Amino acid sequence: MSTIIENDVTVKTDAFLALETKIKARTARFGVIGLGYVGLPLGLTLSEAGFTVTGIDIDTYRVDSIVAGRSYITDITDAELQKSISGKRFRATTDLTEIRNLDAVSICVPTPLRKTKDPDMSYVISAADAIAKVLRPGQLIILESTTYPGTTEELILPTLEANGLRVGQDFFLAYSPERVDPGNGKYATRDIPKVVGGTTPRCAELAAMLYGAAMKEIVPVSSTRVAEMVKLLENTFRSVNIALVNEIALMCSHMKIDVWEVIKGAASKPFGFMPFYPGPGLGGHCIPIDPLYLEWKSKIDGFESRFIGLADKVNSGMPRFVVTRAMELLNERGKAMRGSRVHVLGVTYKKDISDSRESPALEVIKLLSALGAEVTYSDPYVPSLRIEGRNIDAVQPCREVLAACDLAMIITNHTAFDYSEIIRNAPLVFDTRNATDGARARNLVRL
Ligand SMILES: NC(=O)c1ccc[n+]([C@@H]2O[C@H](COP(=O)([O-])OP(=O)(O)OC[C@H]3O[C@@H](n4cnc5c(N)ncnc54)[C@H](O)[C@@H]3O)[C@@H](O)[C@H]2O)c1
Repeated sequence: MSTIIENDVTVKTDAFLALETKIKARTARFGVIGLGYVGLPLGLTLSEAGFTVTGIDIDTYRVDSIVAGRSYITDITDAELQKSISGKRFRATTDLTEIRNLDAVSICVPTPLRKTKDPDMSYVISAADAIAKVLRPGQLIILESTTYPGTTEELILPTLEANGLRVGQDFFLAYSPERVDPGNGKYATRDIPKVVGGTTPRCAELAAMLYGAAMKEIVPVSSTRVAEMVKLLENTFRSVNIALVNEIALMCSHMKIDVWEVIKGAASKPFGFMPFYPGPGLGGHCIPIDPLYLEWKSKIDGFESRFIGLADKVNSGMPRFVVTRAMELLNERGKAMRGSRVHVLGVTYKKDISDSRESPALEVIKLLSALGAEVTYSDPYVPSLRIEGRNIDAVQPCREVLAACDLAMIITNHTAFDYSEIIRNAPLVFDTRNATDGARARNLVRL
């Protein structure tokens, strides 16, 4: 066994050399903990690159679906999933002790917020505990979940080193943020440059080697903290810019200026401007949540950020704004919200996906119901919704349904909706996404 000098880039231990050989030969057994929107595509991408992949999840529904060859993620077809399964390149299990048999493991578990808006690290901690129980020399662990800077070194590393194995010598630890964009037909997991930071340079090297075998481009950075911060900068950038344009939309509504036309005009500038679009609020697992991880951590470190909290305030006020605007529109037509029939079009947090987590539509429906509206909804991707302990089933946005409502609100601009039919049949349409771009009608109002 070679002697190691900490962080010495020239030293390769036996554990390093063994794993390097396996990665190069594609005989390294890869595993993913957490088979969600991130973990399942990542696992399949590695399997398509020639690795044998084991997906591990505690959710038996998800594991059973994979075993049955049924994809629960819009971007992955059953055929793609079945191809990897039948080629014996991909399998799923609920048994966390299988981590022992793997050479490299990526952690893709949720990182939500607690009710207090502090990070909920319980999923990451429990995944790290499961790994620590079976960790052996020669394994590479990569954290993918979005999280605050310092998580890999402060939370994962001590857990993994607790049984005496040393990082960079016996096992290897890296952070690589997942940047997948569900519903984006242009960029799949393999097409998005992969940022990789290691706890030591050797850790970074192995993680870059593994992902480099499956992804088009690797972007190495000097540490796990930088890699963690890269992801949070990206998502904070989006959150702040969306908040800015949401505030501009409120301003334009007040000043009776068409915000969509303003954005289109500004976006004609070939440099120095990037268009962001207003809407009924933020949703999903990333943009409304991740910047608050950063705000929390920087506060602990004694730095008070201002933009993040302000952006959160503006963005979280949008569902209430669109409901108040809807109430005004009904009022202008001599109707009260109480007793009105409101049909919500689209309940996912963005178009053409099936994910309704944190969707602003849920808040909009709650607010409409609290004001006494009778709410129905359509969404080709979400057959039923559970809101405040009540199940609501989707209906088709057919002529009868649209004609029977007092107001149709476009909350998610799914491509599958027929917007001219919606305008033709609903007595009043409030479009919060500019899905009806270019259309003009007396019964159509845009945000
Ligand atoms: N969804 C996105 O678009 C996206 C994009 C980039 C990054 N991320 C980040 O990636 C991470 C995962 O997000 P996601 O959308 O895939 O989440 P998800 O909820 O779709 O999937 C996570 C999976 O992890 C499983 N899980 C939880 N604890 C586990 C444990 N201890 N052992 C095994 N399995 C466990 C859950 O059952 C679930 O199936 C989050 O940190 C998220 O912020 C998400």
